[in-house]
Amino acid sequence: MTDPRLETLLQSCPGLRLKTEPADLEHYGRDWTRRWTPAPLAIALPGSVEEVQAVLRWANAHKVAVVPSGGRTGLSGGAVAANGELVLSLERMNKALDFDAVDRTLTVQAGMPLEAVHNAALEHGLIYPVDFAARGSCTIGGNIATNAGGIRVIRYGNTREWIAGLKVVAGNGELLELNKGLIKNSSGYDFRQLLVGSEGTLGVVVEATLKLTDPPPASNVMLLALPSFEVLMQVFAAFRERMRLEAFEFFTDRAVHHVTAHGAQYPFAETYPYYVVTEYAVADEAGEAAALAAFEHCMEQGWVLDGVISTSQAQAQQLWRLREGITESLARYKPYKNDVSVRISAMPAFLEETQALIGDAYPHFDVVWFGHIGDGNLHINVLKPDDTSDAEFLGQCEHVTKLLAQVLQRFHGSISAEHGIGLVKKPYLSSTRDAAEIALMRGVKQAFDPNGLLNPGKLFD
Ligand code: MLT
Ligand code: ZN
Repeated sequence: MTDPRLETLLQSCPGLRLKTEPADLEHYGRDWTRRWTPAPLAIALPGSVEEVQAVLRWANAHKVAVVPSGGRTGLSGGAVAANGELVLSLERMNKALDFDAVDRTLTVQAGMPLEAVHNAALEHGLIYPVDFAARGSCTIGGNIATNAGGIRVIRYGNTREWIAGLKVVAGNGELLELNKGLIKNSSGYDFRQLLVGSEGTLGVVVEATLKLTDPPPASNVMLLALPSFEVLMQVFAAFRERMRLEAFEFFTDRAVHHVTAHGAQYPFAETYPYYVVTEYAVADEAGEAAALAAFEHCMEQGWVLDGVISTSQAQAQQLWRLREGITESLARYKPYKNDVSVRISAMPAFLEETQALIGDAYPHFDVVWFGHIGDGNLHINVLKPDDTSDAEFLGQCEHVTKLLAQVLQRFHGSISAEHGIGLVKKPYLSSTRDAAEIALMRGVKQAFDPNGLLNPGKLFD
């Protein structure tokens, strides 16, 4: 430990655990983007709220920037520490603290992995319904910081819907207790919701009181093969009209190519250009009949070419793997990720325009489309060819993203549906938020973090 500032940190907070080994700096200094070279000052691993406060007070005294850190599964560079920042990892603060059966809430420390939250809720016969493939590695604090969405938004909404209260350490080290678990609270600004999605720029979430709900009825999973992009929203409408959808996700043949090369099993004899995996409630025979009716209707219309319904839990998991395994199967290509959204009603026109734009812009790159089509959220992943340099690849992708941002602006869409702005989407923030709004955001940042030390350079400069 050579930096003298770290000695003063330990004097201010004697129990604090610190890591400074090069392997640790690399591990904690990056997220799943892998674009920036990690270069943090050190990693602080507090074990209590008081220690988080002490770290932030020290950071203000010594003007050291702090990067709050969860599971670092983010895809927008929101948890990257590449400029001598202190990484504040919440990984030791990972316990469930309290369950209230009357309020149906679970209070947890922010470093608890999402999957552990799911399991803790199930122990009480309830669920925390926000879910996605990174569940084993991401943390609830990180989910809150990005207002994470995932595969069940169509049924349950985003993380924001499930936060009853937050404990947050603001930039100056002050502890804020926001909303305190209330359902009704009409007493002024709702800072709890302001903190959700603030990407670690306003405060460090240290505890969250989560709303829980009843487990869903039994469900089945159906995989559908589609002939074209154009019919996607018609298939969605046909299914949503007839049944209670728990998920409705789409992906292309390129996604299937990569995910099966990575071990997923493919159930059809032929390949098709587009696929949907949908999960729906089958509480009774009527539910099953409705699903078959939707399927048959889509077949008759020529919107669906093939389909398979899960008959066991194991098969349901296999079908889900075709969708959930995509991110991991693409990771080795360092994909450039677009995570965009428009209103569902604007989706058909947006898809048409975007498909034309991307087709023209990237004739030589492997482009993999997937996403939460039922939420109006599309992921367009561009894969780096092995023989193209990082810089050239990035230059081309950023050029196309500028064009995509213009299309989004016309559609009143968002440049980041659920991954956050971070470093990756910062240049395009103004396609989604107008100048007056961004100026207000800066004012809010100033109020919560007067010295600008919390996750600087993320979201905006
Ligand atoms: C997903 O939908 O799988 C996640 O947002 C991750 C990703 O986009 O790669
Ligand atoms: Zn997603």
